[in-house]
Amino acid sequence: MTMVTSPRLKLALIGLGRLGTLRARILAFQQPRIELVAVCDTKPGAKKWAATNLPSNVRFFADPEDCMRNSGAEAVLISTATATHAALICMALDLDLHVMCEKPISIDIVTTAEVVNKAASKPHLKFLLPFSRRYDESHREAKLLVDNGSLGQIHAVETTCYDKQDDSGFWVTFSPQSGGIFVDAGIHIFLTATSSQIDIGRYFLDVASNLPSPRKQVNRVVAMGQQAVYPDLAKHGDCDAAWGLVEFSNGKILNVHVARTLTNGFESTTRLFGTKGHSIVNGNSAANRVEVRDAWGVRTATTPDAFTLYDRTFVSDIAEFAAAVLDGMPLSCLPQDAYEAGKIACALQHSVRVGLPVYFDDEGLPVLETGQVNGHR
Ligand SMILES: NC(=O)c1ccc[n+]([C@@H]2O[C@H](COP(=O)([O-])OP(=O)(O)OC[C@H]3O[C@@H](n4cnc5c(N)ncnc54)[C@H](O)[C@@H]3O)[C@@H](O)[C@H]2O)c1
Repeated sequence: MTMVTSPRLKLALIGLGRLGTLRARILAFQQPRIELVAVCDTKPGAKKWAATNLPSNVRFFADPEDCMRNSGAEAVLISTATATHAALICMALDLDLHVMCEKPISIDIVTTAEVVNKAASKPHLKFLLPFSRRYDESHREAKLLVDNGSLGQIHAVETTCYDKQDDSGFWVTFSPQSGGIFVDAGIHIFLTATSSQIDIGRYFLDVASNLPSPRKQVNRVVAMGQQAVYPDLAKHGDCDAAWGLVEFSNGKILNVHVARTLTNGFESTTRLFGTKGHSIVNGNSAANRVEVRDAWGVRTATTPDAFTLYDRTFVSDIAEFAAAVLDGMPLSCLPQDAYEAGKIACALQHSVRVGLPVYFDDEGLPVLETGQVNGHR
Protein backbone atom coordinates (compact mmCIF):
# COMPACT_ATOMS: atom_id res chain seq x y z
CA MET A 1 0.00 0.00 0.00
CA THR A 2 1.37 3.45 -0.89
CA MET A 3 0.92 6.30 1.55
CA VAL A 4 -0.32 9.52 -0.03
CA THR A 5 1.34 12.49 1.64
CA SER A 6 0.03 15.96 0.92
CA PRO A 7 2.66 18.31 -0.48
CA ARG A 8 4.27 20.85 1.81
CA LEU A 9 5.31 24.38 0.95
CA LYS A 10 9.05 25.01 1.29
CA LEU A 11 9.29 28.35 3.03
CA ALA A 12 12.06 30.64 4.30
CA LEU A 13 11.43 33.12 7.11
CA ILE A 14 13.29 36.45 6.89
CA GLY A 15 13.52 38.36 10.19
CA LEU A 16 13.81 36.86 13.65
CA GLY A 17 12.66 39.77 15.82
CA ARG A 18 9.71 39.95 18.20
CA LEU A 19 7.25 38.59 15.65
CA GLY A 20 9.69 36.52 13.61
CA THR A 21 10.69 34.30 16.54
CA LEU A 22 7.00 33.67 17.24
CA ARG A 23 6.42 32.94 13.54
CA ALA A 24 9.45 30.60 13.42
CA ARG A 25 8.13 28.34 16.17
CA ILE A 26 4.68 28.17 14.57
CA LEU A 27 6.18 27.44 11.13
CA ALA A 28 8.49 24.74 12.49
CA PHE A 29 6.10 22.95 14.85
CA GLN A 30 2.44 23.86 14.15
CA GLN A 31 2.05 23.94 10.37
CA PRO A 32 1.69 20.51 8.78
CA ARG A 33 1.58 22.01 5.29
CA ILE A 34 4.77 24.07 5.64
CA GLU A 35 8.34 22.88 5.52
CA LEU A 36 10.47 25.59 7.12
CA VAL A 37 13.68 25.20 5.11
CA ALA A 38 15.54 28.32 6.30
CA VAL A 39 15.52 31.37 8.53
CA CYS A 40 17.46 34.60 8.02
CA ASP A 41 18.39 37.62 10.11
CA THR A 42 21.21 40.12 9.81
CA LYS A 43 21.69 40.76 13.55
CA PRO A 44 24.32 39.15 15.76
CA GLY A 45 22.96 36.33 17.90
CA ALA A 46 20.24 35.29 15.46
CA LYS A 47 22.14 32.20 14.29
CA LYS A 48 22.48 31.00 17.87
CA TRP A 49 18.76 31.58 18.51
CA ALA A 50 17.88 29.49 15.45
CA ALA A 51 20.26 26.67 16.42
CA THR A 52 18.81 26.54 19.94
CA ASN A 53 15.11 26.83 19.10
CA LEU A 54 14.53 25.28 15.68
CA PRO A 55 14.97 21.80 14.21
CA SER A 56 18.51 21.13 12.97
CA ASN A 57 17.42 20.82 9.31
CA VAL A 58 16.37 24.52 9.21
CA ARG A 59 19.30 26.35 7.61
CA PHE A 60 20.40 29.79 8.81
CA PHE A 61 21.38 32.65 6.47
CA ALA A 62 22.72 36.07 7.51
CA ASP A 63 21.95 37.60 4.10
CA PRO A 64 18.37 37.70 2.72
CA GLU A 65 19.38 37.49 -0.96
CA ASP A 66 21.59 34.46 -0.28
CA CYS A 67 18.67 32.92 1.62
CA MET A 68 16.15 33.53 -1.18
CA ARG A 69 18.52 32.22 -3.90
CA ASN A 70 20.07 29.26 -2.14
CA SER A 71 17.75 27.84 0.52
CA GLY A 72 15.49 25.91 -1.86
CA ALA A 73 12.45 27.90 -0.66
CA GLU A 74 9.42 28.36 -2.94
CA ALA A 75 8.01 31.09 -0.68
CA VAL A 76 9.20 33.63 1.87
CA LEU A 77 7.62 35.13 4.93
CA ILE A 78 9.09 38.58 5.56
CA SER A 79 9.01 39.69 9.18
CA THR A 80 11.75 42.30 9.19
CA ALA A 81 11.66 46.00 10.16
CA THR A 82 9.06 47.95 8.15
CA ALA A 83 11.62 50.06 6.21
CA THR A 84 13.03 46.86 4.60
CA HIS A 85 9.71 45.31 3.47
CA ALA A 86 9.30 46.87 0.01
CA ALA A 87 12.84 46.00 -1.20
CA LEU A 88 12.65 42.44 0.17
CA ILE A 89 9.18 41.84 -1.35
CA CYS A 90 10.47 43.03 -4.77
CA MET A 91 13.61 40.88 -4.45
CA ALA A 92 11.50 37.80 -3.68
CA LEU A 93 9.06 38.46 -6.54
CA ASP A 94 12.00 38.94 -8.95
CA LEU A 95 13.33 35.55 -7.85
CA ASP A 96 9.88 34.05 -8.55
CA LEU A 97 9.01 33.31 -4.92
CA HIS A 98 5.55 33.51 -3.36
CA VAL A 99 5.49 36.21 -0.68
CA MET A 100 3.81 36.72 2.64
CA CYS A 101 4.88 39.89 4.50
CA GLU A 102 3.96 41.58 7.75
CA LYS A 103 2.11 44.84 7.31
CA PRO A 104 2.71 47.56 6.31
CA ILE A 105 4.29 47.30 2.85
CA SER A 106 5.76 50.75 3.33
CA ILE A 107 4.99 53.96 5.18
CA ASP A 108 4.58 55.88 1.92
CA ILE A 109 1.82 55.55 -0.65
CA VAL A 110 3.99 55.68 -3.78
CA THR A 111 6.19 52.77 -2.69
CA THR A 112 3.13 50.80 -1.58
CA ALA A 113 1.53 51.29 -5.02
CA GLU A 114 4.75 50.22 -6.78
CA VAL A 115 4.94 46.99 -4.76
CA VAL A 116 1.23 46.20 -5.25
CA ASN A 117 1.61 46.76 -9.03
CA LYS A 118 4.70 44.58 -9.16
CA ALA A 119 2.87 41.76 -7.38
CA ALA A 120 -0.04 42.15 -9.81
CA SER A 121 2.39 41.81 -12.73
CA LYS A 122 3.29 38.31 -11.43
CA PRO A 123 -0.13 36.66 -11.21
CA HIS A 124 1.39 33.18 -10.91
CA LEU A 125 2.81 34.19 -7.52
CA LYS A 126 0.73 34.56 -4.35
CA PHE A 127 1.21 37.73 -2.31
CA LEU A 128 -0.35 37.93 1.15
CA LEU A 129 -0.12 40.83 3.53
CA PRO A 130 -2.19 39.46 6.40
CA PHE A 131 -4.01 41.98 8.56
CA SER A 132 -4.23 40.05 11.77
CA ARG A 133 -7.83 40.95 12.74
CA ARG A 134 -9.11 39.24 9.58
CA TYR A 135 -7.64 35.98 10.93
CA ASP A 136 -9.17 36.32 14.38
CA GLU A 137 -12.08 33.96 14.97
CA SER A 138 -14.37 36.52 16.66
CA HIS A 139 -13.98 39.00 13.80
CA ARG A 140 -14.68 36.17 11.35
CA GLU A 141 -17.81 35.25 13.27
CA ALA A 142 -19.01 38.88 13.10
CA LYS A 143 -18.28 38.92 9.36
CA LEU A 144 -20.70 35.99 8.94
CA LEU A 145 -23.41 38.11 10.60
CA VAL A 146 -22.64 40.93 8.16
CA ASP A 147 -22.66 38.66 5.13
CA ASN A 148 -25.91 36.86 6.01
CA GLY A 149 -27.68 40.19 6.51
CA SER A 150 -28.83 39.58 10.09
CA LEU A 151 -27.54 43.00 11.21
CA GLY A 152 -29.13 44.73 8.19
CA GLN A 153 -27.00 47.30 6.34
CA ILE A 154 -23.76 48.12 8.16
CA HIS A 155 -23.63 51.90 7.90
CA ALA A 156 -20.79 52.63 10.31
CA VAL A 157 -17.98 50.95 12.24
CA GLU A 158 -16.22 52.16 15.35
CA THR A 159 -12.97 50.46 16.23
CA THR A 160 -10.38 50.97 18.94
CA CYS A 161 -6.92 49.63 19.67
CA TYR A 162 -5.19 50.57 22.89
CA ASP A 163 -1.71 49.42 23.88
CA LYS A 164 -0.38 49.42 27.38
CA GLN A 165 1.93 52.23 28.47
CA ASP A 166 5.60 51.27 28.27
CA ASP A 167 7.93 52.73 30.92
CA SER A 168 11.05 51.74 28.92
CA GLY A 169 10.27 54.57 26.46
CA PHE A 170 9.73 52.10 23.59
CA TRP A 171 6.91 54.11 21.99
CA VAL A 172 9.12 57.22 21.79
CA THR A 173 12.20 55.44 20.34
CA PHE A 174 9.99 53.37 17.98
CA SER A 175 8.22 56.46 16.61
CA PRO A 176 10.82 57.79 14.08
CA GLN A 177 11.00 54.41 12.25
CA SER A 178 7.33 53.44 12.48
CA GLY A 179 5.78 56.27 10.43
CA GLY A 180 3.67 57.66 13.27
CA ILE A 181 0.73 56.34 15.27
CA PHE A 182 -1.73 56.05 12.37
CA VAL A 183 0.79 54.43 10.05
CA ASP A 184 2.02 52.09 12.74
CA ALA A 185 -0.87 51.52 15.11
CA GLY A 186 -3.28 52.84 12.53
CA ILE A 187 -3.37 50.55 9.47
CA HIS A 188 -4.18 47.74 11.74
CA ILE A 189 -6.71 50.10 13.06
CA PHE A 190 -4.99 52.75 10.86
CA LEU A 191 -1.10 51.29 9.29
CA THR A 192 0.91 48.58 11.95
CA ALA A 193 0.25 46.99 15.60
CA THR A 194 -3.13 48.47 15.20
CA SER A 195 -3.08 48.72 11.44
CA SER A 196 -5.67 45.98 11.36
CA GLN A 197 -8.23 48.53 12.54
CA ILE A 198 -8.45 50.65 9.37
CA ASP A 199 -8.48 47.36 7.57
CA ILE A 200 -11.11 45.82 9.81
CA GLY A 201 -13.39 48.80 9.17
CA ARG A 202 -13.06 48.19 5.42
CA TYR A 203 -13.63 44.46 6.00
CA PHE A 204 -17.01 45.05 7.65
CA LEU A 205 -18.22 48.05 5.62
CA ASP A 206 -19.11 47.68 1.98
CA VAL A 207 -16.93 50.56 0.77
CA ALA A 208 -16.60 49.54 -2.88
CA SER A 209 -20.18 49.82 -4.16
CA ASN A 210 -22.13 52.91 -5.31
CA LEU A 211 -18.97 54.92 -5.92
CA PRO A 212 -19.18 58.29 -7.71
CA SER A 213 -15.94 57.40 -9.54
CA PRO A 214 -14.63 53.84 -9.59
CA ARG A 215 -11.23 54.43 -7.95
CA LYS A 216 -12.44 56.82 -5.26
CA GLN A 217 -13.47 54.80 -2.19
CA VAL A 218 -12.84 57.62 0.31
CA ASN A 219 -14.27 61.12 0.29
CA ARG A 220 -12.45 62.70 3.24
CA VAL A 221 -10.76 61.99 6.55
CA VAL A 222 -10.04 64.08 9.58
CA ALA A 223 -7.92 63.17 12.57
CA MET A 224 -6.59 64.67 15.76
CA GLY A 225 -4.21 63.51 18.42
CA GLN A 226 -2.56 64.15 21.77
CA GLN A 227 0.65 63.48 23.65
CA ALA A 228 -1.12 62.51 26.88
CA VAL A 229 1.57 60.33 28.49
CA TYR A 230 4.68 60.73 26.30
CA PRO A 231 5.30 64.47 25.62
CA ASP A 232 8.57 63.62 23.76
CA LEU A 233 6.51 62.18 20.89
CA ALA A 234 5.82 65.79 19.85
CA LYS A 235 9.47 65.95 18.60
CA HIS A 236 8.56 63.35 15.95
CA GLY A 237 5.16 64.93 15.22
CA ASP A 238 3.62 61.82 16.73
CA CYS A 239 0.90 61.13 19.32
CA ASP A 240 0.09 58.53 21.94
CA ALA A 241 -3.67 58.91 21.49
CA ALA A 242 -5.36 59.69 18.19
CA TRP A 243 -8.86 59.80 16.73
CA GLY A 244 -9.71 59.50 13.08
CA LEU A 245 -12.94 59.78 11.11
CA VAL A 246 -13.16 58.35 7.61
CA GLU A 247 -16.06 59.24 5.33
CA PHE A 248 -16.22 56.78 2.45
CA SER A 249 -17.50 57.95 -0.94
CA ASN A 250 -20.70 55.92 -0.58
CA GLY A 251 -21.52 57.51 2.80
CA LYS A 252 -20.24 54.74 5.13
CA ILE A 253 -18.39 56.04 8.19
CA LEU A 254 -15.40 54.58 10.06
CA ASN A 255 -14.33 55.93 13.42
CA VAL A 256 -10.91 54.78 14.61
CA HIS A 257 -9.34 55.44 17.99
CA VAL A 258 -5.80 54.24 18.67
CA ALA A 259 -3.76 54.86 21.84
CA ARG A 260 -0.73 53.75 23.82
CA THR A 261 -1.99 55.03 27.12
CA LEU A 262 -3.69 52.14 28.96
CA THR A 263 -2.46 50.94 32.33
CA ASN A 264 -4.36 47.64 32.52
CA GLY A 265 -3.19 45.86 29.33
CA PHE A 266 -4.20 45.63 25.68
CA GLU A 267 -7.72 46.35 24.44
CA SER A 268 -9.19 46.28 20.97
CA THR A 269 -12.92 46.52 20.37
CA THR A 270 -15.00 46.92 17.23
CA ARG A 271 -18.68 47.94 17.07
CA LEU A 272 -20.68 47.36 13.91
CA PHE A 273 -23.67 49.68 13.45
CA GLY A 274 -26.32 47.84 11.45
CA THR A 275 -29.84 48.95 10.53
CA LYS A 276 -31.26 45.80 12.21
CA GLY A 277 -28.72 45.33 14.97
CA HIS A 278 -25.33 46.19 16.40
CA SER A 279 -22.50 43.79 17.08
CA ILE A 280 -19.58 44.37 19.43
CA VAL A 281 -16.43 42.31 18.97
CA ASN A 282 -14.24 41.87 22.02
CA GLY A 283 -16.07 44.37 24.23
CA ASN A 284 -14.02 43.64 27.32
CA SER A 285 -10.64 42.32 26.03
CA ALA A 286 -10.59 39.92 28.95
CA ALA A 287 -7.61 37.54 29.14
CA ASN A 288 -9.98 34.65 29.96
CA ARG A 289 -13.53 34.03 31.22
CA VAL A 290 -12.76 34.35 34.92
CA GLU A 291 -14.39 37.16 36.92
CA VAL A 292 -13.51 38.15 40.45
CA ARG A 293 -16.41 39.65 42.43
CA ASP A 294 -15.28 41.18 45.70
CA ALA A 295 -15.17 44.42 47.66
CA TRP A 296 -13.71 46.19 44.57
CA GLY A 297 -16.62 45.15 42.32
CA VAL A 298 -16.49 42.86 39.29
CA ARG A 299 -13.07 42.41 37.66
CA THR A 300 -11.48 40.41 34.87
CA ALA A 301 -7.81 40.21 33.92
CA THR A 302 -7.05 42.14 30.69
CA THR A 303 -5.25 40.62 27.68
CA PRO A 304 -1.65 41.73 28.43
CA ASP A 305 -0.59 42.68 24.88
CA ALA A 306 -1.41 42.16 21.22
CA PHE A 307 1.22 39.42 20.97
CA THR A 308 -0.91 37.11 23.09
CA LEU A 309 -3.45 36.99 20.25
CA TYR A 310 -0.89 36.07 17.58
CA ASP A 311 -0.52 32.46 18.81
CA ARG A 312 -3.86 31.82 17.10
CA THR A 313 -4.01 34.33 14.23
CA PHE A 314 -0.51 33.37 13.00
CA VAL A 315 -1.58 29.72 12.74
CA SER A 316 -4.59 30.77 10.69
CA ASP A 317 -2.91 33.24 8.26
CA ILE A 318 -0.01 30.90 7.41
CA ALA A 319 -2.45 28.01 6.85
CA GLU A 320 -4.40 30.20 4.41
CA PHE A 321 -1.19 31.18 2.59
CA ALA A 322 -0.12 27.53 2.28
CA ALA A 323 -3.57 26.53 0.94
CA ALA A 324 -3.47 29.41 -1.58
CA VAL A 325 -0.07 28.35 -2.97
CA LEU A 326 -0.57 24.58 -2.80
CA ASP A 327 -4.28 24.27 -3.68
CA GLY A 328 -5.10 27.57 -5.41
CA MET A 329 -7.51 28.53 -2.60
CA PRO A 330 -8.53 32.23 -2.33
CA LEU A 331 -6.86 34.68 0.04
CA SER A 332 -9.11 36.67 2.38
CA CYS A 333 -6.86 39.73 2.31
CA LEU A 334 -5.72 41.17 -1.01
CA PRO A 335 -2.80 43.51 -1.88
CA GLN A 336 -5.39 46.13 -2.89
CA ASP A 337 -6.70 46.07 0.70
CA ALA A 338 -3.21 46.94 1.95
CA TYR A 339 -3.01 49.79 -0.55
CA GLU A 340 -6.43 51.22 0.36
CA ALA A 341 -5.71 50.96 4.10
CA GLY A 342 -2.26 52.51 3.51
CA LYS A 343 -3.72 55.55 1.75
CA ILE A 344 -6.21 56.12 4.57
CA ALA A 345 -3.51 55.74 7.23
CA CYS A 346 -1.24 58.26 5.48
CA ALA A 347 -4.13 60.70 5.07
CA LEU A 348 -5.05 60.41 8.77
CA GLN A 349 -1.43 60.90 9.80
CA HIS A 350 -1.25 64.00 7.58
CA SER A 351 -4.48 65.34 9.04
CA VAL A 352 -3.09 65.03 12.58
CA ARG A 353 0.12 66.79 11.58
CA VAL A 354 -1.37 69.74 9.68
CA GLY A 355 -4.64 70.09 11.60
CA LEU A 356 -6.78 69.93 8.44
CA PRO A 357 -9.18 67.44 6.89
CA VAL A 358 -7.78 65.52 3.90
CA TYR A 359 -9.92 65.04 0.79
CA PHE A 360 -9.38 62.31 -1.79
CA ASP A 361 -9.35 63.01 -5.56
CA ASP A 362 -11.15 61.08 -8.30
CA GLU A 363 -8.11 58.81 -8.72
CA GLY A 364 -8.60 57.77 -5.09
CA LEU A 365 -5.47 59.54 -3.85
CA PRO A 366 -5.38 61.76 -0.75
CA VAL A 367 -4.67 65.40 -1.50
CA LEU A 368 -1.98 66.12 1.09
CA GLU A 369 -2.26 69.89 1.28
CA THR A 370 -0.69 72.12 3.86
CA GLY A 371 -2.28 75.34 4.88
CA GLN A 372 -2.90 77.54 7.84
CA VAL A 373 -6.17 77.40 9.72
CA ASN A 374 -6.57 78.62 13.28
CA GLY A 375 -2.80 78.72 13.75
CA HIS A 376 -2.24 75.12 12.62
CA ARG A 377 0.38 74.48 9.98
N1 LIG B 1 0.92 41.34 12.08
C1 LIG B 1 0.88 42.18 13.10
O1 LIG B 1 -0.13 42.31 13.75
C2 LIG B 1 2.07 42.98 13.45
C3 LIG B 1 2.22 43.44 14.76
C4 LIG B 1 3.34 44.13 15.11
C5 LIG B 1 4.31 44.39 14.14
N2 LIG B 1 4.13 43.98 12.86
C6 LIG B 1 5.16 44.26 11.83
O2 LIG B 1 6.06 43.17 11.79
C7 LIG B 1 7.37 43.61 11.45
C8 LIG B 1 8.38 43.05 12.46
O3 LIG B 1 8.08 43.58 13.73
P1 LIG B 1 8.94 43.16 15.00
O4 LIG B 1 8.29 43.80 16.16
O5 LIG B 1 9.19 41.69 15.02
O6 LIG B 1 10.33 43.93 14.68
P2 LIG B 1 11.75 43.65 15.32
O7 LIG B 1 12.51 44.93 15.17
O8 LIG B 1 11.64 43.02 16.66
O9 LIG B 1 12.41 42.55 14.36
C9 LIG B 1 12.84 42.81 13.06
C10 LIG B 1 14.00 41.82 12.76
O10 LIG B 1 14.35 41.95 11.37
C11 LIG B 1 15.77 41.88 11.28
N3 LIG B 1 16.14 42.52 10.01
C12 LIG B 1 16.07 43.84 9.72
N4 LIG B 1 16.45 44.05 8.44
C13 LIG B 1 16.73 42.82 7.91
C14 LIG B 1 17.14 42.37 6.64
N5 LIG B 1 17.34 43.23 5.61
N6 LIG B 1 17.31 41.05 6.44
C15 LIG B 1 17.11 40.16 7.44
N7 LIG B 1 16.72 40.54 8.70
C16 LIG B 1 16.54 41.85 8.92
C17 LIG B 1 16.27 42.59 12.51
O11 LIG B 1 17.62 42.20 12.82
C18 LIG B 1 15.28 42.11 13.57
O12 LIG B 1 15.70 40.92 14.21
C19 LIG B 1 7.30 45.13 11.40
O13 LIG B 1 7.16 45.56 10.08
C20 LIG B 1 6.04 45.45 12.16
O14 LIG B 1 5.45 46.63 11.70
C21 LIG B 1 3.04 43.26 12.50
